[in-house]
Amino acid sequence: MSSLNQIRSTFIDFFKGRDHLVIPSAPLVPQNDPTLMFVNAGMVPFKNYFTGAETPPAPRAVSVQKCVRAGGKHNDLDNVGYTGRHQTFFEMLGNFSFGDYFKEGAIELAWELMTKDIGLDPARLMVTIAPDDDDAAALWRKIAGLPDSRIVRLEENFWSMGDTGPCGTNTEIFYDHGDHVAGGPPGSPDEDGDRFVEIWNLVFMRWEQFADGTRKDLPKPQIDTGMGLERITTVLQGVHSNYDTDLFRTLIAASEEATGAAARGEARFSHQVIVDHLRSTSFLIADGVSPSNEGRGYVLRRIMRRAMRHAHMLGAAEPLMHRLVPTLVSEMGEAYPELRRAEATISETLRQEEERFRRTLGRGMSLLEEATAGLAEGGELPGETAFKLYDTYGFPLDLTQDAVRAMGLSVDLAGFDAAMKRQKDQAREAWTGSGQVAASGEWFALRERLGPTEFVGHDTTETTAKVLALVEAGAEIPRAEAGQT
Ligand code: ALA
Repeated sequence: MSSLNQIRSTFIDFFKGRDHLVIPSAPLVPQNDPTLMFVNAGMVPFKNYFTGAETPPAPRAVSVQKCVRAGGKHNDLDNVGYTGRHQTFFEMLGNFSFGDYFKEGAIELAWELMTKDIGLDPARLMVTIAPDDDDAAALWRKIAGLPDSRIVRLEENFWSMGDTGPCGTNTEIFYDHGDHVAGGPPGSPDEDGDRFVEIWNLVFMRWEQFADGTRKDLPKPQIDTGMGLERITTVLQGVHSNYDTDLFRTLIAASEEATGAAARGEARFSHQVIVDHLRSTSFLIADGVSPSNEGRGYVLRRIMRRAMRHAHMLGAAEPLMHRLVPTLVSEMGEAYPELRRAEATISETLRQEEERFRRTLGRGMSLLEEATAGLAEGGELPGETAFKLYDTYGFPLDLTQDAVRAMGLSVDLAGFDAAMKRQKDQAREAWTGSGQVAASGEWFALRERLGPTEFVGHDTTETTAKVLALVEAGAEIPRAEAGQT
């Protein structure tokens, strides 16, 4: 049986042997794209090659790209832990043609790799295409010998990176686990079952999409493909959940050992959340993100705290996450040396955040229990309570949603938003009320530009801080002399 690490190498070697330049994974924080929170697909670092803004180093490339989907268009956070297929962090295997081969080349290469080097039974594969893509249908018939019954035309076969960027119709390859597993083929009412799983997406890039909704032709038709390494490993290892593959089994065993809680029943979900979030948070920290109250740092904090609540539920008496880092590094450090380099920072960041969150977590959970005690299944937690948990106990909204989901409840989101708005309005009124009408606008502008000041006075009486702006009589000034007030 191939391990996840071996499958990664098989993919790279196949395309390297067919004139593709091997390009190492880019960092998770996009280098060339302020519109995107995290790299969420293999093509993201190549966006400018597709649009023609930059010249690619070679006409064909292959990569294994670290991806995080926990915010923005492609967001899987809510499902993570509860299904076998969703992860916040995953590795995307992809081959790319920058104006070199197009549909025919992409389908030939994919079919050869799937059925020869990877060795999947062709009888278990089927594909989806865009409704009008007769070229793709003809190619699948010719190259793979697929009958029309295994070429499904679906409206949803269109892929775009986000609201802007390269896009095009696509074809997806599905694997059929067999009729002993529940679920129907793509496009059928029970397609969400585990029987047919999508393993590879081949995108025929044709256009660049702009914010105003218009599209322009790309300089040349191009190919972008993406296959989740964890998912193909699941298929090749004959299991149905990503969490049953070799890498995840090792991580879950470490989590069981550290908590003393067996991964059975409900506890299984908690372990799955913990090990998935361990991966995303560790890789984000290695790429320079640190927990904070806004932007990327807040997404990191949300993921971390979500895992930390599950550690608490498993009964972990001490901070847990940092104790799992050595196992992660020994499993993935060879493929990703940045993980080894950042090991100490990752451990320390996780430990500090978990210590800090544990100070309010217990009290927050008690409040949550009281507030939900009288609610029947299908009920809503008042938005006011969710806001108090957020504001006073450091519970990100999605953590609260995750907590009540297990009780069959949801959160009153409109009430939460209203409470949030009320607090903001009050803060604003407090300023205007003090007679500083002109100044308050300046302060809000500074907050917008530089971010909020984090209050750490509950935890410490000393800290180091940086002066980011100077304001005199309600206006920002570039410098101040000693003694000036
Ligand atoms: N960019 C395509 C995807 O993410 C391949 O599915």
